Amino acid sequence: MAEGQRDRQESGVPEGIIPEEVVARTEWRWLMIMIGALVLLMAIIVATGIAGALHPPSNVETIDPTTLHLRGEFVESSLGSAVEPNGSVTTRLIAQQYSFVPNCVRVPLNTPVKFRLTSADVIHGFLLPDTNVNAMVVPGFVTEVRTSFTKPGIYTMPCHEFCGAGHQGMWAHVIVVPKDQFPKLTPLERTSCAR
Ligand code: CUA
Repeated sequence: MAEGQRDRQESGVPEGIIPEEVVARTEWRWLMIMIGALVLLMAIIVATGIAGALHPPSNVETIDPTTLHLRGEFVESSLGSAVEPNGSVTTRLIAQQYSFVPNCVRVPLNTPVKFRLTSADVIHGFLLPDTNVNAMVVPGFVTEVRTSFTKPGIYTMPCHEFCGAGHQGMWAHVIVVPKDQFPKLTPLERTSCAR
C-alpha cells in the first residue's frame, strides 16, 4: 500500500495506524462500487424485462365463482369457441372438480386464439403441450392466455394443478381444424366436438 505509507508519512501518524482520510477514501470507493453494482443490476432487470416482454402470466380480472352459471360471460351458452369481429377466436371454459366444461373445443389453425378460463371451485391448471399455454385457473379470477396453433391435430389439455382425489382424470381436448373448415362448423361442433 504505497499510497497509505505516503499518507502516513505526510500526516505524521504512527506506524500501524491508518490515517482517517485514507479510511474515509476507501469507504467512499467501496460505497461507489456497491452503488454502481446496484444500479447495474437494476438496469439489467429493467432492460431484460422490457426486451423479453416479461409480464405476469395472467391478467388480473375478478369474477364471482358462485354465479358463473347464472350470468356473465361463462354461462353455458357462451362456453366454447366464438369468432370475434376481427377474425380471431375466443374460447371460454370452466374448470371444476374434475372436468373442464366443455371437455372438448375446436379452434382454427393459424388464427389468434384467446383462451378465457375460470374455476367454479378450487385451483386448477391449464396446459397445452407444445404451445405457450401453461397457466393456473384460480377461483374468483379469469385466466386469459393467447396463442396460435401452427399444427393441426388433437391437443390434450390436462389439469396440472393437484385439485383433489379426481385430479388425474381431469383433462379436456382441443381439436385444431384447418382454417377454411372452421366457419362451416355448427356451434355444437365448435363447443363440444360433437359430429
Ligand atoms: Cu383440476 Cu387437477
